[in-house]
Amino acid sequence: MSEERFLVTGALGCIGAWVVRNLAREGVPTTIFDLGGSAHRLRLVLDDAELERVQIIKGDITDMAAVEAGLAESGATRIIHLAALQVPFCKADPSLGARVNVVGTVNLFEAAKRAGIGHLVYASSVAVYGRSEDYGEGSLGDDAAQSPRTHYGVYKQANEGTARVYWLDEGVSSIGLRPYTIYGPGRDQGLTSGPTRAMVAAAAGRPYHIPFSGRQGLQYADDTARLFIQAARTPRAGAPVFNLRGSVVAMGEIVAAIEAAAPAARGQITFAGPPLPFPEELDDAGLRAALGEVPFTPLVEGVAQSVERFRQAIAAGRMDPAGYLG
Ligand SMILES: NC(=O)c1ccc[n+]([C@@H]2O[C@H](COP(=O)([O-])OP(=O)(O)OC[C@H]3O[C@@H](n4cnc5c(N)ncnc54)[C@H](O)[C@@H]3O)[C@@H](O)[C@H]2O)c1
Repeated sequence: MSEERFLVTGALGCIGAWVVRNLAREGVPTTIFDLGGSAHRLRLVLDDAELERVQIIKGDITDMAAVEAGLAESGATRIIHLAALQVPFCKADPSLGARVNVVGTVNLFEAAKRAGIGHLVYASSVAVYGRSEDYGEGSLGDDAAQSPRTHYGVYKQANEGTARVYWLDEGVSSIGLRPYTIYGPGRDQGLTSGPTRAMVAAAAGRPYHIPFSGRQGLQYADDTARLFIQAARTPRAGAPVFNLRGSVVAMGEIVAAIEAAAPAARGQITFAGPPLPFPEELDDAGLRAALGEVPFTPLVEGVAQSVERFRQAIAAGRMDPAGYLG
């Protein structure tokens, strides 16, 4: 088999930075395809030696020719597709959101097909589902009814359909993963970035108010990155999409984990507001049946690791908390 090489789209983002870090540590050649904005998340997550091993191609996922050329230049044998605009950006500009999230995903599948790469992994989202009150009690399986309430969720739903058709028509298999709330270093934008911003505030000794409440699933960015890599290395027939579960907790438990990691933050992190417009609890039995054991860091540990990394980065002048806290 030819040498393993990865193309990771959107890897100047949070999950992507952790994917690239893990691959760099393994010594696997990796190429980032991203618009080419700031590399601050990479610098927060990778050290200089790891960063040197990564190739960055500046390109727009909405541009088919650029995607095809980028894939060819990378020589990739595996693809992880993460590039997307998150909920608030899709709301602010639905037309751009559709181009990036929907057309961009079609472009990746098409480029993979033309390059003869038979499998890819992409990020879907909990946002394909409706609100918690749209479902009964208990955790939601992979095939629960979808009724997205955001443009972003509708676009993710379209991507799951695109993946299915590329399998049916072209034999390109895929695995879609549905994260909920990613937390950890690099998570500085998007609807559910509040918990991580609060961790930064705690590390910086500043107060912070999280503008939503309720129970939700949280996944540690490093765990999620390792899961994407695992899925890319486990080609299987079809186009399954799997829920991620992580730690399902109430907001008060998240704040308690932050306070445990930074006792001086006690009473400084507050929250209020409506719950997220998503179901509270996803079932990841399908994921575990397909992939076996999946990476899982308990919330208290993941929060402690995140707060510590933020502390060190702030102390070393490698991170400006204002970027997270506004
Ligand atoms: N963060 C979460 O909690 C969460 C939850 C569910 C699903 N997801 C999905 O996981 C994936 C990664 O999330 P993240 O938190 O790392 O996102 P992020 O916002 O941190 O990063 C997204 C990256 O995509 C890049 N990008 C945007 N438009 C592009 C374009 N036209 N061409 C090329 N690159 C472009 C951005 O520059 C950015 O680096 C996304 O698909 C997201 O929808 C994330």
